[in-house]
Amino acid sequence: MDHAYAKVFRGAAFTSKTPQEVDALKDCLFCLDADGVIQRILKPLDPDYGTTLAAYSGTDKFHELAEGQYFLPGFIDLHIHAPQWAQAGTVMDIPLHDWLDTYTFPLESKFSDLDFARKVYQDLVATLLANGTTTALYFATVHKEASFLLAQICADKGQRGLVGKVVMDDWEQNPAYYRDESTEAALADTESFIQLVQELNKTTKQGVYPVVTPRFIPSCTDEALAGLGELAKKYDTHIQSHCSESDWEHNYVHERMHKSDTFALHEMGLLQDKAVMAHAVFLSDADAELFAETGTAIAHCPISNVFFSNGVLPAARFTQKGIDIGLGTDISGGFSPSLFDNIRQAVIASRMLEEGVDPSLPASERGLPHSRISANEAFYYVTAGGGQSLSLPIGRLEKNYIWDVQVIDVNAPNAKLQIFEEAISMEDLLHKILFLSRPENIREVWVQGECVHKRL
Ligand code: GUN
Ligand code: FE
Repeated sequence: MDHAYAKVFRGAAFTSKTPQEVDALKDCLFCLDADGVIQRILKPLDPDYGTTLAAYSGTDKFHELAEGQYFLPGFIDLHIHAPQWAQAGTVMDIPLHDWLDTYTFPLESKFSDLDFARKVYQDLVATLLANGTTTALYFATVHKEASFLLAQICADKGQRGLVGKVVMDDWEQNPAYYRDESTEAALADTESFIQLVQELNKTTKQGVYPVVTPRFIPSCTDEALAGLGELAKKYDTHIQSHCSESDWEHNYVHERMHKSDTFALHEMGLLQDKAVMAHAVFLSDADAELFAETGTAIAHCPISNVFFSNGVLPAARFTQKGIDIGLGTDISGGFSPSLFDNIRQAVIASRMLEEGVDPSLPASERGLPHSRISANEAFYYVTAGGGQSLSLPIGRLEKNYIWDVQVIDVNAPNAKLQIFEEAISMEDLLHKILFLSRPENIREVWVQGECVHKRL
């Protein structure tokens, strides 16, 4: 037997097999190499189970869950605005365009102050880890230094952060107090930000990555968009933006470019396998096909969509078309840092889409058939779907995947999940965890085989 595992974890776990099916692993040994990658998963009937258990049990390499504790893959937040953490939970009642001009751009402009940025970013990264989010795809601000600071804080705290310096170079669309100095400066800052984060990445175990980040088409000139497409190609980076989020933005792009924002982004070289577009609520069939063909993923932000999109993403339909989907909090368009809250809203919103919400219509005319998603599908989006969207080996507890996990304790003090029936099925147990867990139930969080959060 191979004794060379760096760590061995023992316990029960849940991991997605397909969007519809979850694998409930009862008593398993998860054997990691020194890089924090799963090398073997041993079940009790495996001939090596007993010898491995005997070899590691009682050593400092062995980590065993107690009764009532379960491993879940760490959650992946596929869309979050880090600076907006400072205003999360406020101004939830005005349209996107006014919200940006009146509240959000003034707030984001304050991140030229690195002390302020540090305070907000340290609190946010710690809060996300405590909520089970092991990987996050962040928008920072236009400021190169403060954006790099966010990447450094992720590196220090052990979170897998993918961070974008936001590009807003259009002088007509963006306020004078908050924009890039010029198109050339926007591209030069993005390029040096990419280089800095790629260097920083080499010093981390879990990885931090630079992301090419045009805020959305209305913020950017054609020249910047095309230049960003080239930079993403040159440095093989991820790309993120907002796409088809609101009628206002959609109509603006049609007027300026005479095509949908999906096709415009594609022409600029911004749709590819490592691209993630937030929202995508209003994609046409042709837009959706372009997402599928290019491998572009959707960050589904179900709480935010209630407030800014005035629509519901037809997630089930887009999954069927072969588009990768993950979940995002969209702080602070969405108010909650918890992806558990977003799982719940994704399921609820899909039911409202399917059944319709106007009670004055006859039932048969209300909704969009076949729209509902199950809790299993939402769990898939927030784990395996997110990993697939980012083209990273995360989000599943399988051989060759990275050990990013949260340990859920159903008996947490003050947050018991109240399991009364001993014979509860593993699937029902997972659903109780998804619908009822609170941060108090997240006992430990591990990223790339390292413990990054422990609840006291
Ligand atoms: N579109 C452009 N900027 C933003 C933002 O900060 N939040 C959301 N939800 N949509 C945007
Ligand atoms: Fe957003």
